[in-house]
Amino acid sequence: MNFSLTEEQKMVRDAARGFAQTELKPGVIKRDELQEFPDNLVKKMGALGFMGIMVDPKYGGSGMDTISYILIMEELSKIDASASVIVSVNNSLVCYGLQTYGSEEQKEKFLPKLASGEFVGAFCLSEPEAGSDATSQQTSAIDCGDYYLINGTKNWITSGGRSDVYIVVAQTDRSKGSKGINAFIVEKGMDGFEIGPKEDKLGIRGSDTHTLQFSDVKVPKENRIGGNGFGFKFAMKTLSGGRIGIAAQALGIASGAYELALDYSKQRKAFGTQICNHQAIAFKLADMATDIEAARHMVTKAAWEKDQGINYDTSSAMAKLFASRIAMEHTVEAVQIHGGNGFVKDYHVERLMRDAKITQIYEGTSEIQKMVISRSIIKN
Ligand code: CAA
Repeated sequence: MNFSLTEEQKMVRDAARGFAQTELKPGVIKRDELQEFPDNLVKKMGALGFMGIMVDPKYGGSGMDTISYILIMEELSKIDASASVIVSVNNSLVCYGLQTYGSEEQKEKFLPKLASGEFVGAFCLSEPEAGSDATSQQTSAIDCGDYYLINGTKNWITSGGRSDVYIVVAQTDRSKGSKGINAFIVEKGMDGFEIGPKEDKLGIRGSDTHTLQFSDVKVPKENRIGGNGFGFKFAMKTLSGGRIGIAAQALGIASGAYELALDYSKQRKAFGTQICNHQAIAFKLADMATDIEAARHMVTKAAWEKDQGINYDTSSAMAKLFASRIAMEHTVEAVQIHGGNGFVKDYHVERLMRDAKITQIYEGTSEIQKMVISRSIIKN
């Protein structure tokens, strides 16, 4: 078994680390406060190949593997989880979904722009009454021959305001349950498609989250992804990969907070010595380092399975469940190690603590990951 990264993977990780330090870190506190993420930073991430990491070079992508993807996600998330969720949704849920299940025309039309950062993509599954219970889609897509007519509301959509390409999951035949669901590409500006107000969130505040409204939106049949009724499986398969990205985001948030806490504990003195010399702090650091190492192994294994063509539904759910749990626990501890300074924005750990929470909620709550894992172990 080989745990080493290739030279190319190390270069990609170092490029992401450098970008996060020089481009993301300087404005991260302000972006969090103002709830914004400028287009020029998205374009820079596109220029570095971060928006189409696993997209085939023939569609303008970087052609990298999933291990490279998680390395990039971890490095960006250490500094700015708002940046990394834009990257994650664009890569895992939109580009991967289109590349794997889209038609040749769809790939040629959308992937080059999505991979370059010219376009941003959003994935629209959640609804006011269908977050975890994804088969209960109320959004309807009526088959009208050459086109589908889409009506309904989608909630909590990442990059909902800034995207150009929206993958929208909707019910075509309610009597068929999950097999009556389809996924469509809805393009910005289509008649009847409206972007609702931006949510004011606890964390990942730089990334915009919106409610979307669809009123008699005519979507051409060629914008359906896969065969009739494939939408639910499409969403589930795509989300399995998405969970690897969010697990890597959680890992990055945890390791970012740990690195800050370690540095701080070596500088800060109390009772005559640096606080890292007090067992109360040293043991917290030991727990953090151990959990981060375990999470990194889990995230890497899920990514490796995906690259090997092995089923990764369970490993991705396990990685997300564990990494998001330790992200939440250890960002709280990082604030504690910083004491009063931890409560102050300039020290970054309070933001990481706020950002950590969403990793236990989006792309399936921790309870959903436990459903996926328990079903798989009971079935086997
Ligand atoms: N791959 C392929 N097929 C799958 C699958 C998978 N991973 N998971 C389920 N399916 C199939 C099943 O085999 C079944 O097909 P058959 O009828 O042919 O056997 C069909 O889909 C229905 O499956 P279930 O009966 O298991 O469905 P369920 O209603 O019990 O729900 C669930 C399963 C795992 C709970 C699912 O609803 C789920 O994952 N919910 C969470 C949804 C989610 O993650 N939402 C997050 C929104 S996206 C987001 O957050 C993006 C963002 O902006 C950051």
